[in-house]
Amino acid sequence: MTRVRELVEQGRRSLVGRVVEAPGREAARLLAHLLGTGEAGLLARDGETVDATIADRFLELVARRAAGEPAAYLTGEREFFGRRFAVDRRVLVPRPETEHLVEIALALPLPDRARVLDVGTGSGAIALTLAAERPAWRVVASDRSLGALALARGNAQALAPGVALVAADLDAALELGGFDLVVSNPPYVDPEDETALSPEVRAHEPPLALFAHGGLAVLERLLAAGRALRPGAYLAVEVGAGQAAALVERARAGGLYDELSVSSDLAGIERDVVLRRGARGG
Ligand SMILES: C[S@@+](CC[C@H](N)C(=O)[O-])C[C@H]1O[C@@H](n2cnc3c(N)ncnc32)[C@H](O)[C@@H]1O
Repeated sequence: MTRVRELVEQGRRSLVGRVVEAPGREAARLLAHLLGTGEAGLLARDGETVDATIADRFLELVARRAAGEPAAYLTGEREFFGRRFAVDRRVLVPRPETEHLVEIALALPLPDRARVLDVGTGSGAIALTLAAERPAWRVVASDRSLGALALARGNAQALAPGVALVAADLDAALELGGFDLVVSNPPYVDPEDETALSPEVRAHEPPLALFAHGGLAVLERLLAAGRALRPGAYLAVEVGAGQAAALVERARAGGLYDELSVSSDLAGIERDVVLRRGARGG
């Protein structure tokens, strides 16, 4: 029988020098997850002994984490904008920088009962957060991946049951029509760019969620699909480092949009591009 504090220390030692930023904290979180408690609860149980089966499962999770598996897949959950989302290997683990896209969407001058589409919803992080923050909005969440949609459905039941989930490629989703805002964090990593992703992300997260030909292929398709938007509607997208300028240039050249803005994330990387559909084009 091992005590909580000894197990956490054993886990911490196994994680030191691995891909993990805060080994002690991560070890504590994994054990807290198995014990069904929070980190604070774990502290309170510091001196308690841990059942051998749980100790074995903990050490197995630590070994998988040390080998690079994302912590969120090990615990099956990730917090996003203050809410807990179930996640697994069918979806991208929602990233903190995507919370900025949510903040941007919430600040746009939209009607009270805005119709909003999230393209490539994954776990549902963006769509369900918007629906939970703005209960009067009518939100549609779409994805090409049936696995992602199945997971998002469970999250919707817990967080925002009114959200409609649609299995569709991006053009088909936009053609549903009538949206005041289309928001998307699409795949934007160039598969040929070996340096763009850590080996752990590459090995564990779904390729459909990560990769787009040349980096910009899906973003460019979204720009063109904006043809289906009514004048005055917004398209707000997350982009990869170094992609904002190229996307804005293409949007200007295409002539569909009359208002463009770019904002940076906390690391100073130009991360979000907002476009407003103009009256011309189509
Ligand atoms: C980067 S993930 C974003 C997931 C989630 N929105 C988030 O921010 O955490 C991109 C998502 O887009 C989906 N996807 C990729 N290509 C697509 C396409 N052509 N049409 C619709 N969805 C697509 C993937 O299945 C994946 O779930």
